[in-house]
Amino acid sequence: MLRSKNKLAYMPQARIHPDRSLGWLRRLWPLVAAHRLLLVIGITGGLIALGTQVAVPAVIGRAIDIAGDNFLAGDDSPGELIRLVWVLVALGVARFIFSAAFRYSLFKLAFRIDSELRTLIYEHLGKLSFSYYDRTQSGDVISRANSDIRSIQIFFSFAPIAVISVLTFIFAFTLMLTIHVPLALVTMCTMPAVHYFGMRFRRTVFPLSWITQARMAEVAGIVDENVNGTRVVKSFAAEKQQIRVLSKAAQRLRWAATATVEARARFNPLIEALPRISLVLVLLYGGWLAIEGQVSIGTLVAFNAYVIMLQLPFRLIGFLLTQGQRAAASAKRIYEVLDEEPAIVDAEDALPLDDCHGEVRFENVWFTYPREWTSEDTKNTVNSNSLNGDSDTLGNNSLSNGEVDVNSAVNIRETTPVLRGVDLTIQPGETVALVGVTGCGKSTIARLVARFYDVDSGVVRLDGHDVRNLQLESLRSRVGIVFDEPFLFSESLADNIAYGCPEATRDEVIAAATAAQIHEFINELPDGYDTVVGERGYTLSGGQRQRVALARVLLERPSVLILDDATSAVDVHVEAAIHAALHEHLQGRTTILISHRLSTIELADRVVLMRDGKIATQGTHAELMATDPSYAQILTDTGITDEPGVATRTDLARENH
Ligand SMILES: Nc1ncnc2c1ncn2[C@@H]1O[C@H](COP(=O)(O)OP(=O)(O)OP(=O)(O)O)[C@@H](O)[C@H]1O
Ligand SMILES: [Mg+2]
Repeated sequence: MLRSKNKLAYMPQARIHPDRSLGWLRRLWPLVAAHRLLLVIGITGGLIALGTQVAVPAVIGRAIDIAGDNFLAGDDSPGELIRLVWVLVALGVARFIFSAAFRYSLFKLAFRIDSELRTLIYEHLGKLSFSYYDRTQSGDVISRANSDIRSIQIFFSFAPIAVISVLTFIFAFTLMLTIHVPLALVTMCTMPAVHYFGMRFRRTVFPLSWITQARMAEVAGIVDENVNGTRVVKSFAAEKQQIRVLSKAAQRLRWAATATVEARARFNPLIEALPRISLVLVLLYGGWLAIEGQVSIGTLVAFNAYVIMLQLPFRLIGFLLTQGQRAAASAKRIYEVLDEEPAIVDAEDALPLDDCHGEVRFENVWFTYPREWTSEDTKNTVNSNSLNGDSDTLGNNSLSNGEVDVNSAVNIRETTPVLRGVDLTIQPGETVALVGVTGCGKSTIARLVARFYDVDSGVVRLDGHDVRNLQLESLRSRVGIVFDEPFLFSESLADNIAYGCPEATRDEVIAAATAAQIHEFINELPDGYDTVVGERGYTLSGGQRQRVALARVLLERPSVLILDDATSAVDVHVEAAIHAALHEHLQGRTTILISHRLSTIELADRVVLMRDGKIATQGTHAELMATDPSYAQILTDTGITDEPGVATRTDLARENH
């Protein structure tokens, strides 16, 4: 079952450093440090492997010199040479063993970081509030949790190799200095140029990496929306239009990716080729020294081997710079999610709500949706117009100082309050119908009871407690909301119904399904309760889905049940049966019915009419019909009826008499 599986999930051993001013690697360090052993084994193995690698040219140089001396002296005894061969074999074997240990433990470390980061993100996404999801595209979040984490994992898989090779560089250079100082210095003459181009490369590639990652997210978002919204796309025969949207985004991604490759193509060969110049110089100068008899042939060969050994670190510098910039950009995107503070959290001294009677009270509640608008194109928040992807050129001038501005992307715009001083008390066990024109704030009331959002001012109370002082988990298990567009998981019907109570028995599941009038249907399916529904429950009809969702909430036996248009797709007779069953099932429970149907409204003890974000009037349906002409008007205007389009004012008036 979905939830019980989650309980067994592997929990991360550390979190990222909370200080946002630190560099990305420093912030990630606690995750790395949690696997210190792997790191120590890896680095030790790497260092030993490095030592063996650096020793080889010295041994070979020595062997050549001995062979040369022996040849000149006419000595053909191989004694010393054979000993050196054995040394070389031993060095080779040691290198194999230690570099295997080095690679194994560091790759393992990289994958551990990868999976912990993933878990941290998913865990954090679970904590984030509705307000975050209101303004976030799922494709963007998914790409942050996948491709961005992957680019960090790649960095960690290879960065240690690059670090070791930089160390190789230092060791080799030190050895070269001990052999012949001027010759060693000649090999280094291209270093300043390498440094200069390296820095330029970095400045170009960071913004490009950031844009590439963001555009990958954009494409993922479009694909995600198309796959999820495929029914709408097809019904409007809008495939071509969608493909155009996707291909435009893909083109923008291609531009960013090509620009990155172009930058790499320009800088990498340069950074790699520069050291080869030193190879030529060493041969020239070293050859001259050898002819002059100032160095031996063995020394020159060893030197040459060292210069070749220096090539790999240079090549890796290019890689490290590209991948490092990519990982830095990705880390920034991941930290954006992890740094997002959940808007709704438990207060420090939050109370559990063990024994709930179900009294709901709104006291002068004002509420505005926290709407945050992202700048026109969230995914391309780079303050340079030349980066908008229409251009096929690299546009490098603006890139070289194209600092990425990831923080100024969000600007908050005030919206008008949805609720303006709502006062409402619902007694324990009472059934109240909320009525009002579309968009007047009925669903918002439901969301505030479960504290999906916090009010601007005023208080929402459950059993007299301000909901902000209650533990979220206990509050939400007491308040059950059935939405009009239920979301089912691709699991069996039984698992879907038992989602909130994984430990429920099959009998309890059946009882809930029976009350929701879906048991008979499920029973007739070949696999019954074990039938796996398609993604989001699309293999069921709208009304069947709504009833499964209702059963899911009923099983939790909430103290306050809110049906937000929850039976809109169920026909009137079945709805009546549901309500009859509910009376039995939820005896004494507070129920809030939000509906556009007269039959539903009539079931309520009291009808509450909302207008302009306030409670306009309340009373029984009959009372309101008799006393408030605007009530009948609203019912007509909102089309509240048993069958769509049938209700008229006269009908309603007749019903009233
Ligand atoms: N997540 C949101 N972010 C921003 N504004 C929202 C959000 N949800 C709703 N609104 C706005 O708040 C207002 C009230 O919405 P609400 O969903 O409460 O209406 P409703 O009365 O349930 O309407 P309906 O009968 O159509 O379901 C609407 O104007 C809507 O545009
Ligand atoms: Mg609504």
